[in-house]
Amino acid sequence: MTKNCEEIQMRFYESGDEGAKLLPVSFHEWEERARKTLAAGPFDYVYGAAGAGDTLRANLEAFQKYQIRPRMCCDITERDFSVTLFGKKIPLPILLAPIGVNSILHSDAELATARAAAKAGVPYILSNVSTRSMEEVAGVMGDALRWFQLYPPKNHELTKSFLKRAEAAGYSAIVITVDSTLLGWRERDLRNAYLPFLAGDGMGNYFSDPVFRSGLDEPPEQNMKAAVKKALSEGNNTHFTWKELDYIREQTSLPVLIKGITHPDDAILAVEHGVSGIIVSNHGGAAAGRGDRYSGCTAFRLRSGEGQRTCSDG
Ligand SMILES: Cc1cc2nc3c(=O)[nH]c(=O)nc-3n(C[C@H](O)[C@H](O)[C@H](O)COP(=O)(O)O)c2cc1C
Repeated sequence: MTKNCEEIQMRFYESGDEGAKLLPVSFHEWEERARKTLAAGPFDYVYGAAGAGDTLRANLEAFQKYQIRPRMCCDITERDFSVTLFGKKIPLPILLAPIGVNSILHSDAELATARAAAKAGVPYILSNVSTRSMEEVAGVMGDALRWFQLYPPKNHELTKSFLKRAEAAGYSAIVITVDSTLLGWRERDLRNAYLPFLAGDGMGNYFSDPVFRSGLDEPPEQNMKAAVKKALSEGNNTHFTWKELDYIREQTSLPVLIKGITHPDDAILAVEHGVSGIIVSNHGGAAAGRGDRYSGCTAFRLRSGEGQRTCSDG
């Protein structure tokens, strides 16, 4: 269950001198703790961005410009931040964005994130490139709300297999990420010569997939390098078009959202192609530079009906 702010604050105050050790209290402190705990490769993989980080910085600056002018003297004893998404009520208007390869950060990888999301009641969007498979993750979440994110593979049979598995494992929506069909030019990762997939991280869904495995000359347990290369090539789907999106929608009965839209015209096209929602995002500036995340939102709001949703991240 989500704790209210007072409960969390009181835990700090009532713990006296121990308070400071409980948890970091600011984003900056979390960042510093991660920097101390992790090796340069994993830290920079999460902290870094495309190019020299200009888009990441622009995202942060744009976010700082949002202002709230609150109204006073309202009874705020009962505060309700809940929203209903595709028929499910969630306590806060927040979802956990898909973040791949959690094994570079924690030995339980996505299981740890999934357990935390379930406990907090925050929906979890599991990445296609998770180290633990979608079935393992579902296994620790009980009935908690989860969506599956797909980097649409080139192979239609593999696409169908991922969708079928996600439905069977209780994921209730599909998020198609369309903004990273090619690896970004990431200066920190290049300097560290660090791409976690090459060590087999982030391959949980691929390596456990019967269709993927049947296309390999040798199983991943015998030739990991070849299996990883094949998976990366599937994900680098430069052929992806709106027609492919239509194909995916036809293969699943779940709501399909599109992630990575920033241009208003693309938002309109997405609606015309029947998406149930748009996640306006430039991948946190991590995949390609110079994407403007805000303009897509407005166009989608103008055109969308009641059944469609817009979310936004960096
Ligand atoms: C380490 C890392 C891994 C990510 N992995 C994925 C992924 O697998 N799939 C995806 O759609 N987005 C991925 N993203 C992008 C995030 O989902 C999100 O769009 C981005 O972090 C911007 O949101 P933020 O501003 O809240 O960080 C990743 C981002 C980071 C930093």
